[in-house]
Amino acid sequence: MNALFSEIVVIPVIRIESSERAVELARTLVDAGLSMLEITLRTPAALEAIERIASEVPEAVVGAGTVLSASDLNRVARAGARFAIAPGCTQTLYRESSDMPLPLIPGVATISEVMLGMEHGYEHFKFFPAEAAGGTAMLKAWAGPLPQARFVPTGGITIDNAPSYLALSNVLAVGGSWMVPEDAIEAGDWTRIAGLARACAGLRVGER
Ligand code: 3PG
Repeated sequence: MNALFSEIVVIPVIRIESSERAVELARTLVDAGLSMLEITLRTPAALEAIERIASEVPEAVVGAGTVLSASDLNRVARAGARFAIAPGCTQTLYRESSDMPLPLIPGVATISEVMLGMEHGYEHFKFFPAEAAGGTAMLKAWAGPLPQARFVPTGGITIDNAPSYLALSNVLAVGGSWMVPEDAIEAGDWTRIAGLARACAGLRVGER
C-alpha cells in the first residue's frame, strides 16, 4: 500500500456526470502533477469514467470512491480501478475485500473504527469527514496509541488547511474535491482545473 502512495500528496475526489469528460479531465490532472484519481460512485457515469481513464490514460492511477459493498468492489475491479476507497467500513466489506485483487482504503472517524480495521490487518485509512470529525487535533491524538496507522484525511480539506494535515507524521496524503469543481468539469473548463491542480504542486508531505 505504501507503494501506491509513494509519490502522492493530493488525491482529487471526483464526481463526474458524464464519462465523455473523463479522459480530458484525467489528462489535465495528470499533466498538472496529480496522478492518483478517485472517481466516486455517486453518479451513473462513474464506472464508465473509470474504464475510460484506465484504458486511455495509463499515466493515471485511477481508483473508485464511495465504495459501499462487496458488489461495488467487484464492479470497480472489473472496470479497471487500481484501488477502492470507502467512506466508512463494515465487517462484511472487510471480509469480502480480502479476496479482491485491488487494495481497499477503508474510512474511519473514530479510534474504535481504526482498531477494528487493524484487527482485519489494515494500517491505511481514509479519515472522513476529516474537518467535521476532529481535524488535525484528532489525528495527533491517534498517533499516540496507534503510531503504525496512516491516514488520508478527506472531507473539508482545502489548499489552505492541507499543509497542517500533511505536516503530521501519520498522514500519507490528503483527498479533496476543491481542485475539481463540478461546474468546471461540466463546462470542460480544463484551464481552471489545471490552475487549481497546479497550485497543489507546492504541497509536501512531512514525514511518511
Ligand atoms: C469525499 O467523499 O471524500 C468528499 O466528498 C470529499 O470531500 P470534499 O468535497 O469536502 O473535499
